[in-house]
Amino acid sequence: MSLVAFVYTLHVLSAVVWVGGMFFAWMILRPAVIAALEGPSRLKLWLQVFPRFFVWVWCAVVLLPVTGIGMIHLNFSGFQTAPRYVQVMMGLYVVMVALFLRISTLNLPQLRKAVAAEQWPDGVAALGRIRRLVGINLIVGIVVVAIAAMRPTF
Ligand code: HEM
Repeated sequence: MSLVAFVYTLHVLSAVVWVGGMFFAWMILRPAVIAALEGPSRLKLWLQVFPRFFVWVWCAVVLLPVTGIGMIHLNFSGFQTAPRYVQVMMGLYVVMVALFLRISTLNLPQLRKAVAAEQWPDGVAALGRIRRLVGINLIVGIVVVAIAAMRPTF
């Protein structure tokens, strides 16, 4: 396997894990949890889910720019000559990381605190904020993957 192929594979797998994980959480796990569990148990389950998923998101957060910038140099010999869609990808990466940091450093500790204090309404509010931000990040992630796959010449 060539270096370019290895770096490209790592890049795509990172995107699959992050965007696919958000798709599963939002589209499948969320309605399943609502159907199967009542109030406090729902919050406790999400508190077990998020930290496990976020370890993998952190891997993607690190690997995407490292491999992406690697490919810019290997494929396009620099930022100036990289196509516009790669620059859009970098911009949307910053948006995705900002939303992820907000969830993991602000909303998740709020949820953890509320569950520890058995303040269920606060926990529901924190979970609602996480759900909204993950929903936005899922849409942004799908847009990035679609743009990357279509390689538009704008
Ligand atoms: C700093 C951040 C990023 C940089 C520098 C970057 C850079 C690149 C580059 C140079 C390519 C190869 C393009 C080509 O050969 O035509 C690529 C492909 C790709 N990127 Fe990114 N990327 C970044 C972030 C992301 C993010 C956040 C996602 C998705 C969540 C993503 C998903 C993809 C996918 C799926 C491809 C493969 C497209 C294809 O070959 O069909 N990238 N990226």
